Amino acid sequence: MTTTARTAGSDIKDPALAPEGRRRTEWAERSMPVLRLIRERFTRDRPLAGRRLSACLHVTTETANLAVTLQAGGADVTLCASNPLSTQDDVAAHLVKDHGIKVFAIKGEDHTTYYEHIRAALAHRPDITMDDGADLVGALHMVALNRLDDLAPPVRAWVETLSGAERKALVVGVTGSTEETTTGVIRLKAMARDGVLQFPVIAVNDSDTKHLFDNRYGTGQSTLDGILRATNLLVAGSTVVVAGYGWCGRGFALRARGAGAIVVVTEIDPLKALEAQMDGYRVVPMAEAARIGDVFVTLTGNTHVIRVEHMRAMKDGAVVANSGHFNVEIDLDGLKQAAQGPTRVREFVDEWRLGGKRIFVLADGRLINLAAAEGHPASVMDMSFANQALAAEYVVQHAKELGKDVHRIPRELDAEIARLKLAGMGVTIDTLTAEQQKYLASWEMGT
Ligand SMILES: NC(=O)c1ccc[n+]([C@@H]2O[C@H](COP(=O)([O-])OP(=O)(O)OC[C@H]3O[C@@H](n4cnc5c(N)ncnc54)[C@H](O)[C@@H]3O)[C@@H](O)[C@H]2O)c1
Repeated sequence: MTTTARTAGSDIKDPALAPEGRRRTEWAERSMPVLRLIRERFTRDRPLAGRRLSACLHVTTETANLAVTLQAGGADVTLCASNPLSTQDDVAAHLVKDHGIKVFAIKGEDHTTYYEHIRAALAHRPDITMDDGADLVGALHMVALNRLDDLAPPVRAWVETLSGAERKALVVGVTGSTEETTTGVIRLKAMARDGVLQFPVIAVNDSDTKHLFDNRYGTGQSTLDGILRATNLLVAGSTVVVAGYGWCGRGFALRARGAGAIVVVTEIDPLKALEAQMDGYRVVPMAEAARIGDVFVTLTGNTHVIRVEHMRAMKDGAVVANSGHFNVEIDLDGLKQAAQGPTRVREFVDEWRLGGKRIFVLADGRLINLAAAEGHPASVMDMSFANQALAAEYVVQHAKELGKDVHRIPRELDAEIARLKLAGMGVTIDTLTAEQQKYLASWEMGT
């Protein structure tokens, strides 16, 4: 088990880190005007009063601002990490010490501790769950379907102590859930398709004010930031291979090109590949990209996108990283079998020897932007977490009429977040004239 400091029902690294966490959280808050407005309204209206909310999110300064907003809305919040490497320990300490929020998260926690923390979030017996990658909801569904063998040992051991009625109450007690990321939404839509989803879920990632900005500009910038902090490599003139040209891949390719890299894209979707080609990137299969790349970054949400056969073909000294949700995009098990190592050459940089060449894997193949840097800038998380806060309120208000399916928040709320964000940035736009409104609404007027 990871070394822990248990503080009033929490499990964090060190409560003494709270002042630094508070300073950094306040700094982030300056760039989160939309969430601030929601917090002010939540403080007045208390839309989450009496609700128990368990959130499994990256424990960062931006998440701290969300947690405090949810608490201002009346929710009893428990927070656990959605990734073993993404926790900012000072932020965890700040939430516990300054806000009395229960936090279960320690940067670098081992597998057992990670799931012990998921267990703690479930033991909060939430009405609402909030996920980034569907780990909480996934565990709840294994309980609902009585598939205890599929639970991680710490969760399973706890569930086995519950009676049948208590297990049922744990699942039935959830009014609804929200999900932050693409990978989680894909899992949840698969559950809905198979008819096993137990409650409504709001796919925050499906909001335009989430994926168009967070995935593209947030992941784009912070992935480059993570690679630079981990390696201090010069980007200009190097060949950067971007696997996946979805929202995250587009954003990262743009930033890598902006920093002077020669960018090569790999894809499996003809439309996305065509878009990448016409955006001016070179598009090739990974087998070919492997031979020419200096730095490889996976952003696909898929498994084993970079395999041992690719790593064998890479140049000596190639750097391999992932910014997709799970650490499955690089075949690390295959690498462990085939290569010698690892040797830790820098924090977050492991050297593997493969057929006489050195391959450097960053952050154990976990999200490089959260492991080696600080995740997305607060300004972009302002919109993602405005969506999360409004989604939690929406679940409370509309759970009864929402079916056991994956929904998005109404487009009007999405548009309202965009309006508030523009206002926060001091940007004004035109409004339709009466004549323009009539013109757009009519079909009679032609040339
Ligand atoms: N690092 C972060 O902070 C962060 C932020 C948001 C999302 N994510 C995660 O990043 C991943 C990508 O998210 P997205 O929103 O860009 O998804 P997306 O669906 O928009 O894009 C994924 C792209 O990968 C492509 N792809 C799939 N398999 C591939 C393969 N074998 N080779 C090459 N391309 C392949 C798909 O065709 C698609 O175009 C997800 O796991 C998501 O959860 C991470």
